[in-house]
Amino acid sequence: MSIKFDIQPAANPTSEKDRVAKLADPGFGRVFTDHMAIVRYNQAKGGWYDARIEARANFQLDPAGAVLHYAQEIFEGLKAYKRDDGGVNLFRPDANARRFKDSADRMAMAQLPEDVFIEAVEQVVRIDRDWIPGGEGSLYLRPFMIASEIFLGVKPSSEYIFAVIASPVGSYFKGGPAPVSIWASENYTRAAVGGTGAVKCGGNYAASLRAQAEAIQHGCDQVVFLDAVERRYIEELGGMNVFFVFEDGSLSTPPLGTILPGITRDSIIALANDAGKTVREELYSLDQWRKDAASGKLKEAFACGTAAVISPIGKVRSVSGDFDICGGAAGPVAMGLRKQLIDIQYGRTNDPHNWIKKV
Ligand code: COI
Repeated sequence: MSIKFDIQPAANPTSEKDRVAKLADPGFGRVFTDHMAIVRYNQAKGGWYDARIEARANFQLDPAGAVLHYAQEIFEGLKAYKRDDGGVNLFRPDANARRFKDSADRMAMAQLPEDVFIEAVEQVVRIDRDWIPGGEGSLYLRPFMIASEIFLGVKPSSEYIFAVIASPVGSYFKGGPAPVSIWASENYTRAAVGGTGAVKCGGNYAASLRAQAEAIQHGCDQVVFLDAVERRYIEELGGMNVFFVFEDGSLSTPPLGTILPGITRDSIIALANDAGKTVREELYSLDQWRKDAASGKLKEAFACGTAAVISPIGKVRSVSGDFDICGGAAGPVAMGLRKQLIDIQYGRTNDPHNWIKKV
């Protein structure tokens, strides 16, 4: 499907002076650009319509709008990177567009054609390209879709708003790539078979917050969830996937099913395979993790995601005891993969899998 975006630049964009000040130290997710993309959907009107790029502004949403009651909402996260030659790279936007469609399907929402998703993202990057930070910063793009039908009955909405907003970002974690600490939640689970664990819907993140608060109470950066049946196997962190690195050079990561099929996760598997490393997608228990860390069989563990990139895990805490990984330091495999990935994203090296889309 092709759709033409009506481009209406903001009447009062941020001044250059204010933008430069905001870009100096943006942190994560608190600074926003001047524009957004919006596309509306109405079943009775025949589908998607009214595609616009316009000034970022509040939405008009009726208090009976379906998303406010039954949480029919999905989102994505991807980044635009400034290359040394001044150009801009998007990393695997086609994979985000595909996952967004899969998420919509599971949440009984209207499916946005992948080309419209990508066009919306590119248009926002084009109009707000001056907001892409230099150095190791990037422009985090947040496409999302909400159910907007005014109706309190429980059913799939017949109206939706798709939007893309953009936020210049630095590191997700305050310490940048410094090792993070993880709280293994033995009280709360994230997802069960047949549920929405593999979907990027806001509800999954809402349900993670109590456990994440528990992690913070225990002095940890992130929570890691165990499976909902046996309460033994590592699934994923509150907002990122996880990998383990062993003494024989192999890696493992929890299998897909109830976890988010991370695009960074998939890219790491490809890069490790390219380097001749074995990557197993297999169940791995918290107990085994503890034993392997103690025996030295496990060398490293790291979290990964669009926001987190690759963040080494230095410490694991749980009610059944704490343990360190790699002496609490950043390991060479995690840091090597991180550099390789970042170099591809910023266009500093060749792109063997054609992941980069130049804008
Ligand atoms: C991302 O990595 O893009 C996410 O959506 C996760 C969230 C913790 C920011």
